Amino acid sequence: MPRILFVCLGNICRSPAAEGVLRALEPDWEIDSAGTGDWHVGEPPYGPMQQAAQARGYELGGLRARQFTRADFGRWDRIVAMDDANLANIERLRPAGDGTEVVLMMAFAPETGISEVPDPYYTRDFDGALDLIEAAARGLAAQSAPRD
Ligand code: 4NP
Repeated sequence: MPRILFVCLGNICRSPAAEGVLRALEPDWEIDSAGTGDWHVGEPPYGPMQQAAQARGYELGGLRARQFTRADFGRWDRIVAMDDANLANIERLRPAGDGTEVVLMMAFAPETGISEVPDPYYTRDFDGALDLIEAAARGLAAQSAPRD
């Protein structure tokens, strides 16, 4: 089964939402999320994001934030970053010789023409973030589906 790690900044908005959305699409995959920052470690997802997700049928309340570490390299088939800053912060920690794929979330939804998931902690557009995350999660699931 594919092993996917979603990464954002705080691990309380975008990456836990992505974890919940992909888990709904692919219940058998190994899926986790983490933040490059440590401010919210141990906390559940941000209330407004939990509510926006719940309105679409995703339950995020059991998740707890953790920080991304070097040890995540090698544990995942793909590390999926929500924006360019997340991607750069992840790459800064890559161990020498590690070949883990690190990719932007919106690369899985090229039809949107959008390259980053804007941070709803600042934009307050939780539904807009979920729209993008759902589109990319569908693309990620479709791309990894077995072909005949
Ligand atoms: P996220 O949003 O990266 O989507 O979880 C953020 C949440 C909190 C903070 C930054 C981003 N913060 O700086 O506290």
